[in-house]
Parts: sequence; C-alpha cells; structure tokens
Amino acid sequence: MKNIVLVGFMGTGKTTVGIELAERLGMVFLDMDEIIVEREGLTIPDIFERHGEDYFRLLERKVVKELAGRSGLVIATGGGIVLNSHNIDDFSCTGLVVCLSASPEAIINRVGSDANRPLLAGDDKMAKIMSILEKRQKLYDAIPFQIDTSGLSIETVADEIIEKLGVRPLQS
Ligand code: S3P
Repeated sequence: MKNIVLVGFMGTGKTTVGIELAERLGMVFLDMDEIIVEREGLTIPDIFERHGEDYFRLLERKVVKELAGRSGLVIATGGGIVLNSHNIDDFSCTGLVVCLSASPEAIINRVGSDANRPLLAGDDKMAKIMSILEKRQKLYDAIPFQIDTSGLSIETVADEIIEKLGVRPLQS
C-alpha cells in the first residue's frame, strides 16, 4: 500500500484528515511534527527559538527520508515541507501526495489562537499568513492533487482522497 502524504499550509486540516483517513483505510497515521517533538524532547516553538528554523528544516528532511522509505502510512507533514523540493520528490516516489488548501479566513479561524506555530507568533497573524502564503503559493500549486478544505467536512475531504486512490475503505 502506497503512503498517503498530506501537504499544505498550517490549518488546512492535514492532521484531522490524516487521522480520519488512517482509521478508514486501516493504515498507520504519523504526524511529522509529533515525531520531531518526541525526538528532540522540545516543543516546535522551543526548537525554533533554541536552534532556529534552518535546524528544524534539517530535522524535517531527515524524517522525510525515513518515512518515504516505508509504506502503508498516512503522513501529516509540516506546512513548510514544500520549501525543499527533495521532500516532495521523495514522498512522490512512494506515495500519493495530496495538497490541502484553505482560505486565509479559514486558516486564521483554525490556528489563529494556537501558540504552537512559531511562524505565526505575535500580532497581526493575518499579515503573517498572507506573507508566508505568498512566498509558498507556487510550491503548493505545483502539487497535482489539490483539495480546498475551506467549506468541507473532514469526512468529505477523506472521501475525495479515497476516491482518488481507488481503494476500498474498511467501513463505508
Ligand atoms: C510550519 C508548520 C507547522 C510546523 C512548524 C512550521 C510551516 O506544522 O511544522 O511550525 O513552516 O508552515 P503545521 O502545518 O502542522 O501547522
């Protein structure tokens, strides 16, 4: 079974959709941020503060290499995974890469009050979201399979991915 790799900006539903998909398909769910937090023994904001973003990106790269070599996984990636094109290339070799998107309004509703996203820390979160989105948009757009999750339920997003995969869920 190929991996299913969920890519997209913060707050687009990668983790919630990933958990739903894994449950319905009898696959193992892994969240890259969680793996990194566990290994480092630090929260994501603490890793950024103590070691910087470049260090975090190296940790991400290492986890991508490991997970791309496995199969049967549903993987929720961190929103910045697209910044290194090798990450998408590696995941594409062994999995279906799905890019989730959402409107800036939906994103701010979902993650605006979450203190766990260092790139959105401080005031004027909407400006921060727009500025990061602008820099990354073409990287997200380059992924062939896209789903805008703004007005969709978790179940509907999972349905669309399952249909694309052409596999039968465990319970339907
Ligand atoms: C980041 C997204 C976060 C986390 C880190 C950096 C990003 O993951 O990896 O804060 O660069 O977009 P989520 O997309 O799960 O929030």
